[in-house]
Parts: sequence; C-alpha cells; structure tokens
Amino acid sequence: MSRPYETIKTKKEQPTTWITLNRPHKLNAINATMLQELSEALNTIEKNINVRCVIITGEGKQAFSAGADITELHKLTHKTAAEFSRKGQQVFSQVEALSKPVVAAINGYALGGGMELALACDFRLASDHAELGFPEMKLGMIPAWGGTQRLPRIVGVAKAKWLIMLGDRVKAEEALKMGLVDKVVLPNKLEAEAEALTQRICEHPPAALKYAKHAINSGTQASFEYELKKETEFFAQLFSTKETKEKIESFISQRNKKEGDC
Ligand code: COA
Repeated sequence: MSRPYETIKTKKEQPTTWITLNRPHKLNAINATMLQELSEALNTIEKNINVRCVIITGEGKQAFSAGADITELHKLTHKTAAEFSRKGQQVFSQVEALSKPVVAAINGYALGGGMELALACDFRLASDHAELGFPEMKLGMIPAWGGTQRLPRIVGVAKAKWLIMLGDRVKAEEALKMGLVDKVVLPNKLEAEAEALTQRICEHPPAALKYAKHAINSGTQASFEYELKKETEFFAQLFSTKETKEKIESFISQRNKKEGDC
C-alpha cells in the first residue's frame, strides 16, 4: 500500500491516475520532498498494470508549478548543487521513461522546474491563463532538471535560446504557436480535456503505446545522458559564483521583507 503523501495527491480514475502537485500556498514549488514523492508515485504507477495513463497537474487555479523551491537553493555549494540537479533529472527522466503516456494539464504558471516537469511529459494541455517560462537566468542559474536538453528538442534551438537566455515568460497562446504546448483550453475545461485525451490514448494497445513512446524518445536522445551530466556540471559551477548566490538571497530577502510588512 502506498503511504499518504505530504506534497502530492494521487487519484485513480481507471484507466488514468492523476498526480496533483499539492503545495498551492507556494504555487506548487517543487522541494526535495515533492521530488521524492513524485518518484515513489511513479514507481507505484509503473508496477500497476491497471493504470494506462497518467495526468500531472497542480493544485489550485494559479499554478501547475512555479519551479524549484527557491528557499532550498541559496545554501547550495558546488557539490550539493550537482546533487540537486541530478535528483531532479532522475525523477523527470522517470516521467519520460514511464511505460505509460503522461499528460501535463498545465493549470497556471509552469516556470523553471515546473516547466521542466511538463517538458518531460508526452502531451501538454494548457489552460488559457497559463504562463510558461524559464526564469532561472534571472537568478543567475540555468535550468538543470533536463530543461536545457528537452526544450530545444521540443521547440527548436532558436526558441529555446530565447526562452532560456532571456528568461521571458510566454502566455499559453504563444506557447501553442511555438509548439511548447499542444492545445490551449478554457480553465474550466482543462480537467475534462485531459481526461478525454487519455480516454482516446487508452483506446490503443498498451504495448504499442509503450514501444512508440520509447522509440520516439530514444531516437531523439542519442547523447542525452552525456548532455545531462554537462548540464549538472554547469549548474554546480554557478554555485561557486557570487552573482548567483546574491540573486537568490535577494529574492528570498525581498519575500521576507514582504512578509514582515504584512
Ligand atoms: N520557490 C519557493 N516559493 C515560491 C516559488 C518558488 N519557486 N514561487 C512562488 N513561491 C511562493 C512565494 O514566495 C509566495 O510565498 P509567501 O506567500 O509565503 O511569500 C507564494 O509562493 C506565492 O507567490 P507570489 O510571488 O506571492 O505570487 P505572485 O502571483 O505575486 O507571483 C510568480 C507569481 C510565479 C510570478 C512569482 O511567485 C515568482 O516569480 N516565483 C518564482 C518563479 C521562479 O523563479 N521559478 C524558478 C525557480 S528556479
């Protein structure tokens, strides 16, 4: 039996299992516990032959996920930054390698690690108020949970550089035009659209779906593992620089000041 989770919720609606990122007060920011729980939930789902599809979404109306929990970043050193990067990469690679199709139902902000999670999914549906982006550059960082590798494979090198090196957020309609999401729907239709998509997918044989997914993924990932190691090394290097630490600390102290003012 799976244990109750602290940071995610799972809901079985055969043949689909929903995974909901559940820290709405922090815009579903992904902390170490959430990564661990996601990994456990995916292991359980992989073993359950009755689960044919997975939908990942965020609790609340505001966010799918606003990314890695920034409060866990400011103490990272070169060594711990590399561990942080590898852990996120492993869990998102688990999403990508799952033998069942995974749909991201993007119900609001999908930023940083939140967008990296969505990129690891097979399909991306977004509600029309969703905003996507990689703000890492503004914190003196780079996406380090697979984002530098998956984004160009999905939207092309030019658009990936635009999004990663400028750190701009894009609205759902623009994300649709660049192929970052597959479909944009009204917020109150997102759940039903995601269910309808998984119903359609589940009309097809599980083995054929599994092999199609793995063939497509492995065909686009010739040097993926090697590139992930480089992404980790670059990310870790940044935690030896003053600028990165200052930017993260400044974000946190602004938050603390805001709280103090209230
Ligand atoms: N990590 C930790 N906490 C986060 C977070 C993150 N990535 N994103 C949001 N939160 C928290 C905020 O600190 C705030 O908590 P508080 O009320 O205890 O202060 C709460 O979530 C709500 O966020 P808030 O900023 O007040 O909402 P907003 O609507 O004004 O702004 C965003 C929304 C997404 C624009 C803003 O939260 C933001 O820029 N978040 C950081 C995104 C980011 O850089 N992600 C990449 C991280 S590597």
